[in-house]
Amino acid sequence: MTQHFTDIDDLSRDDLADVLTRATDLKERTQRGKAHPVLAGQSLAMIFEKPSTRTRISFETGMTQLGGHALFLGPEDIHLGHGEPIRDTARVLSRYVDVVMARVFDHADVTGLAEYATIPVVNGLTDDAHPCQTLADLLTIQETFGDFDVDVAWVGDGNNVCQSFVRGAAMTGIDLTVATPAGYEPDDETMDRAAELGDAPEVTNDPEAAVADADVVYTDVWVSMGQEDERAEKLEAFDGFQLNSELLSGQKVMHCLPAHRGEEITDDVLESDDALVWDQAENRLHAQKGLLTFLR
Ligand code: CP
Ligand code: NVA
Repeated sequence: MTQHFTDIDDLSRDDLADVLTRATDLKERTQRGKAHPVLAGQSLAMIFEKPSTRTRISFETGMTQLGGHALFLGPEDIHLGHGEPIRDTARVLSRYVDVVMARVFDHADVTGLAEYATIPVVNGLTDDAHPCQTLADLLTIQETFGDFDVDVAWVGDGNNVCQSFVRGAAMTGIDLTVATPAGYEPDDETMDRAAELGDAPEVTNDPEAAVADADVVYTDVWVSMGQEDERAEKLEAFDGFQLNSELLSGQKVMHCLPAHRGEEITDDVLESDDALVWDQAENRLHAQKGLLTFLR
């Protein structure tokens, strides 16, 4: 059966550890763009329905460093969503390329691709999940602290990035507390799955309580791509959930980026030495190289 990566827990615990080990190894081997052509002759199709800086560049550069090739397929470039059913796209891509990565709105489009593709399908962000981000986050935590015996507080929206992190935390034993405004908690499916994988996080609507004992505080934008119409309502709901110098007291800070400075995080917090965000961004590249070599 084809191994897909629609969410972090498509991997077993052992496979996750394997991907992270590969990532660490490839980070060294491909330092400063040095080629390590283990995927020579292979192609990655990258489908994007939403914009991206990190995901696009890290996958494309990663394939180049591994000796392969990446195709950027933007919203206007292929028939996906313009009349050709997902299952047809999945079957045809499977005849051409070796891996497909998709950034789409509807999570069902990624699982639909996976159902019909005979090549690995990688989720590059849906409205529900962002497992490639979680891989980089876990690599960053492991590098920073040496292991996963770490207390993390998520403060902000409980949607895609948070939901995959909840699963990843349950798989690795990270002690996670999630603080969101009422109504923005991770969904029931995520909480149930986390409980199956390990421990479901404590969920609260109190950011101060959440960060009190945390080693790391993690946030994401309040207005995700595709939610622009909800902007006024969300800014009001998330009042009090900003990472700023009043809330924080020396914890490390994580953010998947892009950051909306002045909304979910202040400029000084993002610019401080406590911010792990640039390591996180770099680790997208290495974590995904680990994933690509694992899947191929
Ligand atoms: N964190 C992340 O996925 O960034 P991009 O939207 O720039 O790809
Ligand atoms: N929650 C954000 C993450 C971007 C990487 C969004 O979906 O826009």
